[in-house]
Amino acid sequence: MTPPPTPRQDVPHGPHNRQGADFDFDKARAALAGLPGNGLNIAHSAVDRHAEGVRRDHVAIRWIGPTGTPADLTYRQLGESTNRFANVLRQLGVGSGEKVFTLLGRDPAQYITALGTLKLGAMFCPLFSVFGPEPIRSRMLAGEAAVLVTSRRQYERKIAPMRPSLPGLAHVIIADDDRGAPPSTESFWSLLDASSDVCPVAATRPETPALLHFTSGTTGIPKGVIHTHDAVVAHYASAVRALDLGPEDVFWCTADPGWITGTCYGIIAPLVMGATLLADSAEFDAVRWCRLLQDHQVTVWYTSPTAIRMMMRLGDEVIRGHDYRRLRFIASVGEPLNAEAVTWGEQVFGTPLHDNWWQTETGSIMIANQASMQPMPGSMGKPLPGIEAAVVERKRGGGIEILDTPGCRGELALRVGWPSMFQGYLNDRERYERCFAQGWYLSGDMVRRDADGWYWFVGRADDAIKSAGHLIGPTEIERVLLAHPAVADAGVFGVPDPIIHETVKAVVVPKPGTVADEALRRELHAHARRILGPAIAPREIAFRDRLPKTLSGKIMRRLLRAQELGLPQGDLSSLDPNL
Ligand code: WT7
Repeated sequence: MTPPPTPRQDVPHGPHNRQGADFDFDKARAALAGLPGNGLNIAHSAVDRHAEGVRRDHVAIRWIGPTGTPADLTYRQLGESTNRFANVLRQLGVGSGEKVFTLLGRDPAQYITALGTLKLGAMFCPLFSVFGPEPIRSRMLAGEAAVLVTSRRQYERKIAPMRPSLPGLAHVIIADDDRGAPPSTESFWSLLDASSDVCPVAATRPETPALLHFTSGTTGIPKGVIHTHDAVVAHYASAVRALDLGPEDVFWCTADPGWITGTCYGIIAPLVMGATLLADSAEFDAVRWCRLLQDHQVTVWYTSPTAIRMMMRLGDEVIRGHDYRRLRFIASVGEPLNAEAVTWGEQVFGTPLHDNWWQTETGSIMIANQASMQPMPGSMGKPLPGIEAAVVERKRGGGIEILDTPGCRGELALRVGWPSMFQGYLNDRERYERCFAQGWYLSGDMVRRDADGWYWFVGRADDAIKSAGHLIGPTEIERVLLAHPAVADAGVFGVPDPIIHETVKAVVVPKPGTVADEALRRELHAHARRILGPAIAPREIAFRDRLPKTLSGKIMRRLLRAQELGLPQGDLSSLDPNL
């Protein structure tokens, strides 16, 4: 085993909070200044500042490849390869503002593409590599992808067959090109080798668009959430306050860059900090993860409640049999973290879990069990400094009322103006504007705030499903089921699950004359998995002869869910009595 990049002798177990409790957006912004003309560029903040400074030989990325062998990339090397990639894009004629997509795992090419793209001033848009062809196609079309960086396998299985339907996709670059790139594609490492390793950072401004991440709501089209370079200020400040991250840390964020956590905290924040990030190319495996924490002497770990609960299920002895003395801070995000998991973490890892809350739209952690606080098991925490949160109630006619009694319940709202607030939904100004009222962003999450100011998650205000941390839009799945010739109607909702929070269930109305049997069920499962990919395809499919709908014809998913789960049916005033 190669020695860890930065052995630390000096760090006490538990939160460290090096930068002090007063580290805020202004201090973060001042630390990141340095580009001429008050410019700001995420790649400059995350890479070039260090590549040209005292940390140039520090390990930026420790990548664990498919064979388990680690490979290290220093800040200087990362600076050079991202310069090369920015030059590659320029030579291909990609302009600033154009969108570079990835369909990759946690591979070196993912990190180089992300930061090289930002360096050029183009927009980075990572897609989740477990998506099936349809979610990939709809996102690339909506996002007008100019370039896609992907693997040979992904290209051959998913992209090549749909390429004629993506006329705007000018370049496909293959990242694992040892066998040469397939026809009509280019080869990542050959392009890199052939280009210069010198490249000035684009003169982007804080308000220049930088990141595009797709997320789901109740209605059909996935929402393309736009973030600007200014988000880096919030990534930096929140990583200090909510993750207790500092330059000497070995930081492991287990999220895939296809989800915003994997970009903002899996790539940007640890590099801005000058820390070492661990990138594991493989998928979840509890015992292997324990070994990674131990062997690479991870000091700060950011993971998900699903992963923690899967570890809990294995039994303490399996997890305990490793050395976690370096691990001093654990945080979790994406779905509710039950109080038992927080205390379990303390028992087996020697340090409690710190839950935090945010969304694709907020662009960085908003509410957290912060490094400076004793965590409150079961609560998502308190707003970070510089973030003003409120519990509100939407009024008929569009306004909101701010609730402030102890124990109040309502929708979580955030005062407009933090640096990583999203700047739009792609091509949907109206939907963006509907997220705001009276100077507040309305999150769509229902919460409770207790007398001491702790926030507790209650549920979502919409029908989106949270499964293993992934936000899934029911309509995207219903549409695919409806495309099957035997399906007349389909309704999709989340079923509570003790480990992954919710699983996806579909209720299907077969066409008249179709036999709703086991064979059809199997066929629909296969159909959904092929088109949507296993991560979002329904786990369970049931048949019914009609779906509950409103008078205006919308599926009442809440009622469908209540009926399927045997729960109280709630308000039925909008139900169409003829159905
Ligand atoms: C939704 C956002 C996770 C950040 C990036 C991905 C749910 C998030 C928590 C938490 C309970 C949580 C909310 C939120 N969520 N964190 N600590 N406790 N629920 O964000 O895919 O846009 O999902 O995840 O419902 O709105 P996303």
